[in-house]
Amino acid sequence: MAEAAQAPVGVFDSGVGGLSVLAEIRQLLPAESLLYVADGGHIPYGEKSPEFIRERCHQVAEFFHSQGAKALVIACNTATVAAMADLRRTYPQWPLVGMEPAVKPAAAATRSGVVGVLATTGTLQSAKFAALLDRFANDVRVITQPCPGLVELIETGDLHSPVLRQLLQGYVAPLLEAGCDTVILGCTHYPFLRPLLSEMVPADVSLIDTGAAVARQLQRLLVQDDLLASGPARATRFWTSGDPKQFESILPVLWQGGSTVARWFTA
Ligand code: DGL
Repeated sequence: MAEAAQAPVGVFDSGVGGLSVLAEIRQLLPAESLLYVADGGHIPYGEKSPEFIRERCHQVAEFFHSQGAKALVIACNTATVAAMADLRRTYPQWPLVGMEPAVKPAAAATRSGVVGVLATTGTLQSAKFAALLDRFANDVRVITQPCPGLVELIETGDLHSPVLRQLLQGYVAPLLEAGCDTVILGCTHYPFLRPLLSEMVPADVSLIDTGAAVARQLQRLLVQDDLLASGPARATRFWTSGDPKQFESILPVLWQGGSTVARWFTA
């Protein structure tokens, strides 16, 4: 294995949502050393301006660069639409992987011809999301549903309180009323709500997210650049710009991968 392949992969999100993606990466690529940054001091990204998010993404990217990361995964749909193009310009040599709502697979999978998208306001209002619909959703009806408040609750480790249940019900109901049989989880926090969502939607409604696809894309880029690590399973290390104590207390709820050391990310 080339020496560069031993370097870690940086993964980040505004908070704990990206852990749903990190789990897919950990499972597919156990030999990779992974660094995770939760930008919890600035959450939620979904209600912030693209300029603010771009600035945050640059801070986090610089941090990973200083840690010698060989690749970067933006495990956040909102950050990807706001900052990916900018990051690619700043780091043209760096393998970068972003996320986008699973419009293409959902359009291919729907039988009713109606697809729902749960995502942040920032993602749904972005030009990148509009382009995604233009490209892949011409033959289906797409119902979009911003979900303010969900991320904040998930950040506290709440995955099924009555308050969360009621909020989520209010977001899901219009999709079901419109006849959606495929619902895109277009924010990396939402896969943690799968158990609750499964109770709310009929059994023939599919819930789709792109965490596994992102892990496969990372694998492809690492292979292509001869950067894939091999050998025994490696550690995952965590940073947060929020309260490390709070992060450390929630981590065991959302992450079963061990190595739960949280540090303060100060940028
Ligand atoms: N997890 C992020 C995403 O995938 C957004 C969360 C937030 O609003 O900060 O869009």
